[in-house]
Amino acid sequence: MQDTSILDRLRQGLCSSSAQETAAIAAELAAALPPDCTLALHGDLGCGKTTFVAGLAKGLGIAAPVTSPSYNLMSLHKGSERMLAHLDAYRLQSAADMDALMLEEFLHSPYCIALEWPERVQEWLPEGCIHLYLVDKGEGRRLIRIE
Ligand SMILES: Nc1ncnc2c1ncn2[C@@H]1O[C@H](COP(=O)(O)OP(=O)(O)OP(=O)(O)O)[C@@H](O)[C@H]1O
Ligand SMILES: [Mg+2]
Repeated sequence: MQDTSILDRLRQGLCSSSAQETAAIAAELAAALPPDCTLALHGDLGCGKTTFVAGLAKGLGIAAPVTSPSYNLMSLHKGSERMLAHLDAYRLQSAADMDALMLEEFLHSPYCIALEWPERVQEWLPEGCIHLYLVDKGEGRRLIRIE
């Protein structure tokens, strides 16, 4: 048993040495998320944002594979206890583009919105949004941190 919560450990910063480890950290976080939450996943191309969401999905009891939603912008998944909306804002330019997706029409509580490239739609991000940063440290290592 861990003596500090995953949220606290992520606030300190966790180092992952593999894609599997990143997914495992995300799966652990899944169980600690507040009821309706938005997770802004920051990080450069290929640093592991989608990998993180795949772990999150696994932790939420979602069996379907999580792939990059770059082309369809949004994927919705039904978990055992909450739904997961996975979005990639890479090709979006403004909060209006996010509004146009009418995400709220598809959301029901409890949910988690996992958003890649959140800086593209910064004005859209809801209050209380959790900002998570993935930094490539080379050789398969990633620093994962919540701010
Ligand atoms: N420690 C690690 N954590 C996460 N991914 C890792 C790690 N080490 C290596 N990788 C590899 O890095 C790649 C991360 O790809 P992924 O699609 O998750 O990144 P992304 O941030 O979503 O990229 P994009 O900006 O294109 O959406 C995968 O090929 C994964 O196997
Ligand atoms: Mg991605």
